[in-house]
Amino acid sequence: MSPRRIPVDSTVIAPRPGATRRLHLHAAGVSVVLDVTDGRIPAIAHWGAELGKLGPAGLDAVCEAAVDPVPHNAVDVPVRSGLLPQQSDGWIGRPGLSGSRPDGSGWVPRLVTGGIELDGHPLSRAHTETGAATVRFALADEEQGLEVDLEVQLLPTGLLRLRAALTNTGATPYALDELTLALPVPAEAEELLDFAGRWTRERTPQRRDFTVGTHLRENRRGRTGADAAHVLHAGQTGFGFRDGEVWGVHTAFSGNHRHLAEQISTGHRVLGGGELLLPGEVRIDPGAQYRGPWLYASYGEGLDAVASRFHRHLRAREHHVDRRRPVTLNVWEAVYFDHDLARLTDLADRAAALGVERYVLDDGWFGSRRDDSSGLGDWVVSREVWPDGLGPLIDHVTERSMEFGLWVEPEMVSEDSEVARAHPEWILGPSPAALPLESRHQQVLNLTIPEAFAHVRDQMMALLDEYDIGSLKWDHNRDLLEAATRSTGRAAMHEQTLAAYRLMDELRAAHPGLEIESCSSGGARVDLAVLERTDRVWVSDCIDPLERQQMNRWTAQLIPLELMGSHIASGRSHTTGRLHTLSFRAHSALFGHLGIEWDLAEASEEELAELRAWIDLYRERRELLFRGDLVRADRGESPLWLQGVISPERDEALFSLSAVGRTATSQDAHLRFPGLDPSATYRLRPLLIGERPSNLIPPPWLERALEEDGLALPGAVLVRSGLTAPLLDPEQGLLFSLVRETDPAPVP
Ligand code: DGJ
Repeated sequence: MSPRRIPVDSTVIAPRPGATRRLHLHAAGVSVVLDVTDGRIPAIAHWGAELGKLGPAGLDAVCEAAVDPVPHNAVDVPVRSGLLPQQSDGWIGRPGLSGSRPDGSGWVPRLVTGGIELDGHPLSRAHTETGAATVRFALADEEQGLEVDLEVQLLPTGLLRLRAALTNTGATPYALDELTLALPVPAEAEELLDFAGRWTRERTPQRRDFTVGTHLRENRRGRTGADAAHVLHAGQTGFGFRDGEVWGVHTAFSGNHRHLAEQISTGHRVLGGGELLLPGEVRIDPGAQYRGPWLYASYGEGLDAVASRFHRHLRAREHHVDRRRPVTLNVWEAVYFDHDLARLTDLADRAAALGVERYVLDDGWFGSRRDDSSGLGDWVVSREVWPDGLGPLIDHVTERSMEFGLWVEPEMVSEDSEVARAHPEWILGPSPAALPLESRHQQVLNLTIPEAFAHVRDQMMALLDEYDIGSLKWDHNRDLLEAATRSTGRAAMHEQTLAAYRLMDELRAAHPGLEIESCSSGGARVDLAVLERTDRVWVSDCIDPLERQQMNRWTAQLIPLELMGSHIASGRSHTTGRLHTLSFRAHSALFGHLGIEWDLAEASEEELAELRAWIDLYRERRELLFRGDLVRADRGESPLWLQGVISPERDEALFSLSAVGRTATSQDAHLRFPGLDPSATYRLRPLLIGERPSNLIPPPWLERALEEDGLALPGAVLVRSGLTAPLLDPEQGLLFSLVRETDPAPVP
């Protein structure tokens, strides 16, 4: 299909003086001013706080005020970093578009802006102001035969996203090396925050100064990665959850990708991202097109504001989940590969008795998969373990009003499998003779080979057709090394990622309502592209609540709580060996899509009773948890973490106070509850489930609240002066429910 061309506005085909277009988009407290001066490529004159209605003179003023003086010993015109930075505009940092023709030409594009479209209509006015909108810029370098369709969207949530598609209009193939979009951030952004991580320790924050040079986060794992940058932020020094201007970007791609923060010697700073292409893998033939992923950009006062734009965006998806996220039981840590119908039906009975609503059968039900060394790729129910198929278990589960979910890992293949024996050429690898190193004893199925794709799609489809399966837990347990088509040696990473998306899309289209959980050795595939087709992410294989406090806290920087799988596991963590009370395990799991991952046959009557109470609480509060706004209090280095979810009307909230360590002094900083209405009065009720935390020393306000039916407190006290913190042992928590008692007072 040949790409649709944007009509060319002959007054902008420049560069030449006069062909200037300026646009102001604003929504939800964010303004974006786009400047096409003299037909150059679009630059951002402002991306940040709302500027209000500007008028043509105001719009010109914003653009002119953003132009720097020309320093000595530099190009003779002011340098603006366009959205696709290039040397022909004087940009000396990382170029946005890199590639070349077979004869070596074409590597320094001189793109200029041709036509501009606003919400599908050609734009010819010099000044335009509008709300949320889509702007498309047709950029072209006619001499070098390159065209870029650059799409910039300001969404109603104030979230900005951009993507670019490159068309080769020349006569020879164009080998694309890189297409990276970049957004300028002001010099006030002096500090960076992004994430590192590893298996069982996903999304570990890291901060550094935003100095001259490039902070480059390249991912060559072929999956989003446990160490993904997640959201790369730049902000005012010391920015926190509630304060400081912050700009953050997220590259929405589940294959190789990059995020970067770059400052050049002029002081210009950009945040950028795009797909990371392997050598030779994107060769654009004449007339063909490559489209890059969305780069999302969120601005706000504090990290909560940045996160909330992502949350509202995801909540606005057409297929976004129902707020009654089903209490889930996943059998993995209960039975691992020990699939036994009697044991699994017994587990289902125990789960149903607790109020569980979804039951997930994990790895081990198919082919020769009795441990992790074989069977991937043979997606046929093992008759050895399941002589009557999965029907008896599924019936047992659904008769108890629970939905059935099934674990799959469609992109993978074990060398010890029927499919690999029959089709070794379907494995991704560097050559016919060589295979990549195994990882978890497995390889990757080359989904870019149509027959391999059809094999796995048909097997998945057959399962979904035969059984009553409401959801898939879609796993992906290894990095993609040397990801090439064996017969040709050509890199296949880009196409493999798109094929995985296509596979999900085809299964969902054929089975409307099918939910998919994105899992990848725990939380190594959490990104906004996979979330276009999935409904839950498994945050981590580590269910230790202390670790999860941190991982859930930061996973929520991109995704709302209802999409985060958050389970209550057995007392001793299977990944860290730590022992925790049920109360801290459940307390920590509550702010997420709740599940259980525990052999309930081992649980005592008291534990089951307490678990039931937690499940009841979750069911009672999930409506609030999954429609409200997440707030995280800034408490410096304090190990007493306070977070809450507040209804959009600010009439109801649930806060959790968690001791993730010991305080340096016995008395810690006051608890201030951010986000509540300071002019309202709230009734604060501590919620105690199970045992009262041992060694809790309540301050007088808490004592009273525990004795009476809570405490009515002015919002100003809660938000501004705060309450003395209780003394808590580490790895304990308290929950507070807050309900507005009065109508908001008029603002004096
Ligand atoms: C890794 C996942 O993260 C686990 O939850 C579990 O599904 C295993 N894979 C199964 O092999």
